[in-house]
Amino acid sequence: MTETRHDSIRAVEWTGQGLSLLDQRILPLRHEQVLLEDAAGVAAAIRDMVVRGAPAIGVTAAYGVVLAARARYARSPATWAQDIEQDLQLLAASRPTAVNLFWALERMRTHIHTLYPGSPAPSTKQGEGGADPTPALLAEARKIHEEDIAANRHMGELGAACIEGRGRVITHCNTGSLATGGYGTALGVIRSAYAAGKIERVFADETRPWLQGARLTAWELVQDQIPVTLMADGAAAHLMRQGGVTWAIVGSDRIAANGDVANKIGTYNLAVAARYHGVKFMVVAPTSTVDMKIKSGAEIHIENRSPDEVLSLNGQRVAAPGAEAWNPSFDVTPAALVDVIVTEKGVVHAPTPEKMAAMMRG
Ligand code: MRU
Repeated sequence: MTETRHDSIRAVEWTGQGLSLLDQRILPLRHEQVLLEDAAGVAAAIRDMVVRGAPAIGVTAAYGVVLAARARYARSPATWAQDIEQDLQLLAASRPTAVNLFWALERMRTHIHTLYPGSPAPSTKQGEGGADPTPALLAEARKIHEEDIAANRHMGELGAACIEGRGRVITHCNTGSLATGGYGTALGVIRSAYAAGKIERVFADETRPWLQGARLTAWELVQDQIPVTLMADGAAAHLMRQGGVTWAIVGSDRIAANGDVANKIGTYNLAVAARYHGVKFMVVAPTSTVDMKIKSGAEIHIENRSPDEVLSLNGQRVAAPGAEAWNPSFDVTPAALVDVIVTEKGVVHAPTPEKMAAMMRG
């Protein structure tokens, strides 16, 4: 059954004026929209975590290309399709790990080339202008957005069907409506499985240093009236040992061709603890998160963010003066620790390169 109740949050919305993002840095205490009207603003918003979560970053970047085309065409109707490459590069440089960003930019680039053959060279003779590309590119960005929501709903059903019996689940980071076009990946499965009576309670890791679990996942689940208990990241193994936890369910920023999974830092710890305690480990991600160009997780570029994010809380220094910090934003869970990968194209149990390739062929 598709669970559509309470699916009202949208992190990314196109308005006539531009792109409106719900500022995720200040949720849940303040609900403020940020209106963006150019590609540079969109790149900065992704870098600075106004919007975050792999699929949401991809959708945002697609709308960023629309803003770029609108501005480039207004400035130079004859050369916009060539000039926009600079904006595509700028958007691509915003964050390195979530492959959905590069996937969405490539899809928009391909669309530009299809609509305007010959681009990035000018599609018209120098000095002549073709039609305004904004409506056609906006239609493609909207399609990417809608497809992501549809994929999430479908994954919700597929993932929930993998869960037998009723129990507690653990999740990490935020993988809900805020992290995607809508509904969520791992949180979408949790929504669907809860509606089907398979989940008693969700234990959410707080997810230091950005507290996506405490601020965003707990907020989404409370709104959906799904029982949620927040815990420090280090509490998961202790909880598993007590029994009653059936699944750990997480999202991903990039999945390699062999099924290795990059996700928010701390996911690997969770997978190790889950295997040790006989808790099943599920990864939920659309195929736009699967990077078949890389053989294994060793090739994934892990983003290192500012040490200040670890040394401080809410802008207030908490660490001892003189201490240094290491702040990798993601880790890689080896495929051997993953029980199930759920995509909109199907479910892969105990992932191998062969099974991943077969799933991608669909
Ligand atoms: O740094 P973030 O908040 O962008 O990291 C997000 C995650 O790691 C999510 O788990 C991942 O993107 C999957 S979201 C559907």
